[in-house]
Amino acid sequence: MLSSEEKKIENEEVEEKTERQSPEFGHSFFRADRAVPAIEFKDVRLAFDEKVILDGVSFKVRKGETKIILGRSGSGKSTTIRLTLGLLKPDDGEVLINGEDITYFSESQMMKVRENMGMVFQEGALFDSLSVYDNVAYRLHEKDVEEELVREEVERMLQFVDLEEAIDKMPSELSGGMRRRVGIARALVGEPNIVLFDEPTAGLDPPTARTICELAIKLRDIQDVSSIFVTHEMKNLDYLAQEYAIHDEEGNIVFEEEGERLCLINTEIIMINEGKIIFEGKEEELRTNRDPYIQKFLNGK
Ligand SMILES: Nc1ncnc2c1ncn2[C@@H]1O[C@H](COP(=O)(O)OP(=O)(O)OP(=O)(O)O)[C@@H](O)[C@H]1O
Ligand SMILES: [Mg+2]
Repeated sequence: MLSSEEKKIENEEVEEKTERQSPEFGHSFFRADRAVPAIEFKDVRLAFDEKVILDGVSFKVRKGETKIILGRSGSGKSTTIRLTLGLLKPDDGEVLINGEDITYFSESQMMKVRENMGMVFQEGALFDSLSVYDNVAYRLHEKDVEEELVREEVERMLQFVDLEEAIDKMPSELSGGMRRRVGIARALVGEPNIVLFDEPTAGLDPPTARTICELAIKLRDIQDVSSIFVTHEMKNLDYLAQEYAIHDEEGNIVFEEEGERLCLINTEIIMINEGKIIFEGKEEELRTNRDPYIQKFLNGK
């Protein structure tokens, strides 16, 4: 057995040998702590009054993985996200973030954990009285970060979502899709390594919905972000589970389809029904699953 000090030294050596920088965000990839899941639910139970919402839900989101959560309205998808954020506490079971049991964390402890998390809401949830700049800068302004650094970060994030030109606009001047992208830019400030998406494409036209999915794919494949992506739109499933982002020879980010021979290993799907996970696995397995409930769901019935 190694002492904890020896282990630490060993880990540091591994990190030094294998650390690589992402060109855009400066994240470290291939760290020794990758084996620890970014998010883990262990036998989580939650009821509101008499109504059981989650009835023993367990899953793991590995580092750099996207977990797509499917389920009918009211099945507990947003509840799962609120539990991950520590906004709700389970009646039973545990929620772990980066290996840390946050189940009984106080609000102030949770604030620290949430610094590492970004949240993308359905409506974009922007502050209407603040400009795009101030919306994206919100977290940094709260922390009294120097304005020069704030501007740099805001510009970088708006560039990531391809909205640099909107920096001085007010939310009311933006289309629904642009608002959603500003919401994503805001969620990414501070380089969270966990990003939670709750129906981020609801109500958007198909091309705009696609750009939102592309952002999620870029985060997964280029930034190594771990995420939960709640959706009921099957098209999103196609994009996220069949396409990946890479840098081409000129260094531009391009999207490729996995095709017949590849199978993306960093994207998995969970389906929740009546408080239980009724499916967990790859998109290919979901499509070929014979369960009548799943087939109905996939066919939009
Ligand atoms: N704070 C609360 N108090 C009481 N019941 C709640 C509360 N929050 C959620 N619920 C109930 O829990 C169930 C699950 O809600 P949740 O918002 O997680 O569903 P969802 O899967 O996100 O649905 P949708 O697809 O419509 O967004 C619903 O029946 C909802 O009415
Ligand atoms: Mg919901």
